[in-house]
Amino acid sequence: MLTPEILATFRGLLDEAKASGDREPTAMNLATADGTGRVHSRIVLLKAIDEHGLQFFTNYESDKAAQIAAHDQVALCFHWKDIREGIQVRFEGRATKTSAAISDAYFASRPRGSQIGAWASKQSQELPDRQTFEDRVAHFEKEFEGREVPRPAHWGGYVVSPDRIEFWYGATFRLHERIVHSDHGTSWTTRLLYP
Ligand SMILES: Cc1cc2nc3c(=O)[nH]c(=O)nc-3n(C[C@H](O)[C@H](O)[C@H](O)COP(=O)(O)O)c2cc1C
Repeated sequence: MLTPEILATFRGLLDEAKASGDREPTAMNLATADGTGRVHSRIVLLKAIDEHGLQFFTNYESDKAAQIAAHDQVALCFHWKDIREGIQVRFEGRATKTSAAISDAYFASRPRGSQIGAWASKQSQELPDRQTFEDRVAHFEKEFEGREVPRPAHWGGYVVSPDRIEFWYGATFRLHERIVHSDHGTSWTTRLLYP
């Protein structure tokens, strides 16, 4: 469970990043490893954070989902270059699926076009040509015409419960500050690292 202090620090920095005019302040790199140890990374958007961890939403049949199923340890990394002297925040921990209720609630809040996209996209699978995707979009627009778009079973959230968090504060002359919080099960410890 994330401590109130860590949450407050993270939320404060995220608010600063939002106020700084960053186009994608919630963008985070998600690194996963597959069953062979090969590492993969891509950007996803943070949709919520609380004491249980960080939530993002995706396709449960995507490559990232297959990697998480094979190996549930993941890493997340934020970089906000326009606040203070530059900030990086790293999280490491376990990813698990969010409850269906959380996925339903977030899906329902999305624009209709994104909801249709979730049905139409076989995320990470080979697409023969662009027209095939456009035809699938048209198909699901027709299928759900005049009614609410339900959440597809293949789409939902993950929560990453971190056991290691590092706040990296840039400083002049490379005297960067690194503060690491580690979860030891019943308590967290905090250490400084050389930059
Ligand atoms: C700024 C940005 C935000 C993104 N947000 C998400 C997201 O929240 N969820 C998602 O599934 N993909 C998101 N993507 C697309 C992913 O980076 C990636 O292409 C996709 O999820 C397929 O990854 P995979 O094949 O490794 O599963 C985003 C891409 C960018 C550039």
